[in-house]
Amino acid sequence: MSTTSIKQVAQHAGVSVGTVSNVLNRPEVVAATTRQKVQAAIRELGFVRNESARALRSGRSRTVGLVVLDVANPFFTDVARGAEAVADEQGSVVSLCNSGDDPERERRHLERLEEQRVQGLLVTPVDATSPRLDQLVERGMRVVLVDRGPAGDDRCSVAVDDVEGGRLAATHLAEQGHRRIAFVGGPAGIRQVADRLEGATKAAADADVALRVLETPSLTVTAGRAAGERIAELPASQRPTGVTCANDLLALGVLQEMTRRGLRVPQDVAIVGYDDIDYAAAAAVPLSSVRQPRDLLGRTAAELLFEEINDPEAHEHRQVVFEPELAVRESSIHRRRRRSNG
Ligand code: RIB
Repeated sequence: MSTTSIKQVAQHAGVSVGTVSNVLNRPEVVAATTRQKVQAAIRELGFVRNESARALRSGRSRTVGLVVLDVANPFFTDVARGAEAVADEQGSVVSLCNSGDDPERERRHLERLEEQRVQGLLVTPVDATSPRLDQLVERGMRVVLVDRGPAGDDRCSVAVDDVEGGRLAATHLAEQGHRRIAFVGGPAGIRQVADRLEGATKAAADADVALRVLETPSLTVTAGRAAGERIAELPASQRPTGVTCANDLLALGVLQEMTRRGLRVPQDVAIVGYDDIDYAAAAAVPLSSVRQPRDLLGRTAAELLFEEINDPEAHEHRQVVFEPELAVRESSIHRRRRRSNG
C-alpha cells in the first residue's frame, strides 16, 4: 500500500499542497499545465489518497448505505445496480447490507452505517416502522425509503403501487376464465405482500371469483415449491387453476413443483409472478409477471438522496410512486396451436 504523502507529491511537482488538493478534489480550478504536472507526480510516486483520513477530517465518508431485505433476490440486485450508477456519478460508493427480513439485523446495519459516517441511507425497511431509522432521521441522517410507500414527510420514498400490481395479476387470471385463484405470498407482515394481497382480493371480489390465500414463511423459491405442493395436493375440484405470487422467486418455485408433479402450466395451473426479474422471461415456461422498474427505482431513490446531500436547503422531500405493468407470457396464456393448413 502506497505511503507517499500529499506533501511529497507537492514537492515532486514543485507546487503547494493546496494545489495538489485542488487537483484531487476540484481539478476544474487548476490550470491544465499545472494539473498535468501534479497528475504526473501522482503516477510517478504511486500516490493513493487516504479516503479514511479525508473522511476523518471532513466528518463524512463518500459512501451511502443501501439496506435491502434479501440480497439473494435479483429484484434487489437490480435496484442496487441503479442506485450504484448514480452514486458512482457522484464520486461515492454504495455499501450494500442484507437485513434478511430480520428487524434486529436491520438495526445492527443501521448502527454500523451511522458509525461509518455514511453520507445517507437507502433502506427497504423490514417492518412498517423502524424506531432506529426514525432516530437516525431525527439526528440528521438523510434517508430515502426504497420500495416502500410514504412514511411521514421527514424523508423521501420511492415505490411501486403494489395494490394496483396485485389487482393487475388477479384480474388477468379472472379474465382468462379462472374461477378459483390462489394468492401465494408472505410473511403477511411485509408491506409489499400485504398491498399485493389487498389488490388481488379486490380484483377477485370484483370478478366474483374465489381467492384462496396460501401464506408463505418467506419470499423464496423454496417457499414457492412448498406452496406448489399444497396446491397440487388439493382435490382437482378444489384446486385453484390460477395462482398469483407475491414475487417471481415464489412463482418459479410453484412452476417447478407443478412441473415435477406433471401438472401442465398454464393448461392445468396458470401462474403469475411479481417483479419481472430476468429469470421470469427465461423460465422453462416463460413467466407472466407484474413488472417493477427495478433499475429506475434504485436510480430515483439515489437521485433523491444526493439531491438532499448536495443541497439540503433547497431539497424538498418527495414520495415517488411508479405504476406497475403486467408482462403476459406463456405461464398464464393458453395459446392454442395454430391449425396447419394441410
Ligand atoms: O422482498 C420481497 C419483495 O418485495 C421483492 O421480491 C420485491 O417484489 C419487493 O417489492
